[in-house]
Amino acid sequence: MWGALKSDRVAARMQTPNIPAFSSNSEGRIYLDHNATSPISDEVRALVPEWLTHWGNPSSIHVAGRGPKTLLRESRDKIAKLLGVNPLELIFTNGGSESNNFALKGVFETAPEGRDHYIISAVEHPSLKRTADYLRSRGARVDEIPVLRSGRIDLEAYQALLTDKTALVSVMMANNETGHVFPIREMAELAHAKGALFHTDGVQALGKMEFNLRDLGVDLASFAGHKFYALKGIGVLYAKKGVKLENLVHGGGQERHRRGGTENILAIASLGYMCGKKDEIAARGEQMRVLRDHFETRVTSEIEGVSITGAESPRLPNTSSLLIPGVDGEILLMNLDLKGYAVSTGAACSSGSPEPSPVLLAMGLTRAEAQSSMRVGLGWSTTREQVDRFIETLIEVVRHIRAIDAQSASVQAKGRLHDTSSEGKSYVR
Ligand SMILES: Cc1ncc(COP(=O)(O)O)c(C=O)c1O
Repeated sequence: MWGALKSDRVAARMQTPNIPAFSSNSEGRIYLDHNATSPISDEVRALVPEWLTHWGNPSSIHVAGRGPKTLLRESRDKIAKLLGVNPLELIFTNGGSESNNFALKGVFETAPEGRDHYIISAVEHPSLKRTADYLRSRGARVDEIPVLRSGRIDLEAYQALLTDKTALVSVMMANNETGHVFPIREMAELAHAKGALFHTDGVQALGKMEFNLRDLGVDLASFAGHKFYALKGIGVLYAKKGVKLENLVHGGGQERHRRGGTENILAIASLGYMCGKKDEIAARGEQMRVLRDHFETRVTSEIEGVSITGAESPRLPNTSSLLIPGVDGEILLMNLDLKGYAVSTGAACSSGSPEPSPVLLAMGLTRAEAQSSMRVGLGWSTTREQVDRFIETLIEVVRHIRAIDAQSASVQAKGRLHDTSSEGKSYVR
């Protein structure tokens, strides 16, 4: 009730000229998987033809290089302004995974003698976890900070892990599956007190919450354009002035000799354009939070047994990790897909794999619970009407799946009653 009233207030506010509807075409379907990737902003689409006229190489001295060079500089400035850092502290990469690889491997190659210890959280994205495994294979010691079922990171365990041999701590700003937001400023201070560097994976945070890298006090941070309505194939690594990093991609003198390769100007321009929307982020966050709260209030009261994983801990305003007992997440996802709704059962990269989400398992959910979980990620363009339509469909689909399961359980039980074999095999063979 309270949620509905609050939603109405914001729905009214959303119609004010300050927050016009944000348009991103998802071809008539209802897209609620914005943590996997976002659709491309209509404004970005409209600007692409103009950006394409700057096809030259930004490193060229002749006229063809001037347009792209300007676009590159202006975009870098806008991104730096949003992040609260100096433009020269940004290195363009091809996405979040490359930025995470760059941060960890770059520090590993330059860490002082004796600093061979790394700390990451237990719920990092595979691009970070697998890179940490690689560091292990190269002789580094890597520890993981536990994350509790509530979604909170175990700060006591973190402090016990930190030593004066720790080279780098890497903890994500916000989790891609549950949306939990971690206390980065506090954790970076603790790392610095031991002389360690601090990296944060900010891929999910960009465009969903306000933050300033300088205030957070981090040394390194990763971002990706495709989670923020920009084009795919562009990422950013923030490396604070003075932080020593070995290159990941060796090559020409691009990015002040820190990352070789001709810059992806079109994608960079699209990310720069979106980062120019600094003033919109808080309002869009509030818009999503109200819809998310409305969604959670309705599903937890209208679908039996549903809970939100870590609902009470700080979270991104757009993400819900739902636990629907007795309903297989993959079957639910496929049914919803057939009806025109896109959601996810875990990390996008693990979809299609029958294994339950490692993030949820790391938080202490059982395999059965993790397998009955679903992630909903709202976006800037999500409307109240879309959310309500989705809730109605979800109620119907869950009821349908539970009814079929109940039916087949009763058939199996009857089969067992009539089964005379001593092995007690079920009726359906
Ligand atoms: C938290 C987080 N980090 C890193 C990545 C990887 O980013 P990219 O797909 O741009 O390589 C993702 C993508 O899902 C993510 O959610």
